[in-house]
Amino acid sequence: MYGLVNEAVRNLVITNAGEDTWNQIRTKAGVEVESFSRMDQYPDDLTYRLVGAASEVLGAPADAIMEQFGEFWIRYTGREGYGHLFDIAGNSFRDFLFNLDALHTRVGDNFKDLRPPSFKCEDVNEQTIRMHYLTERPGLCPMVLGLLRGLADHFETEVFVEHPVCSRTGGEHCEFLLTMPHANR
Ligand code: HEM
Repeated sequence: MYGLVNEAVRNLVITNAGEDTWNQIRTKAGVEVESFSRMDQYPDDLTYRLVGAASEVLGAPADAIMEQFGEFWIRYTGREGYGHLFDIAGNSFRDFLFNLDALHTRVGDNFKDLRPPSFKCEDVNEQTIRMHYLTERPGLCPMVLGLLRGLADHFETEVFVEHPVCSRTGGEHCEFLLTMPHANR
């Protein structure tokens, strides 16, 4: 993945736990560099190792770390030069969800070798959306839960998230059911 992702992990750890803890985590993960170049690509494995090492050093489940990271990613990208993409991808939580693929297509204008996930949304009823999460990378669904929480926060929208189908437990891909009790689309 692009270094932007690993940089965000580094930023989150340093903000919450300090520089020494970050150095412990990256050493445990076998990462020799202290920071990452945002526009360079790194093996996906490095990011997974960082999550695993963070889990050990911080004594927190890897899923909880990924979820926290997802929530952080919304704030991080918003303030690190990608806020305009949030503005054009939709004015509401719902519109934004339907535009996620278009958002990553725009991201790909700058990150030429981006291998983004894909999110296919369908309306179940007035209040509920089913979202299909398609990716070549296994096991990142807790990050999606955090991303959804961060986005709901960004749009000040109350949302209840269910995860009825998961690729980790035999599902072909993960599906999320998002219920917005106050939605009026
Ligand atoms: C302007 C904001 C955003 C930027 C700049 C951005 C950029 C990126 C980048 C660079 C990657 C790494 C992919 C690679 O290197 O091949 C990525 C992955 C990912 N993005 Fe975004 N993204 C943004 C917003 C979002 C939002 C709002 C979601 C919400 C669902 C999202 C979901 C993901 C997920 C789940 C991944 C992990 C990779 C995977 O699942 O295969 N992104 N994004």
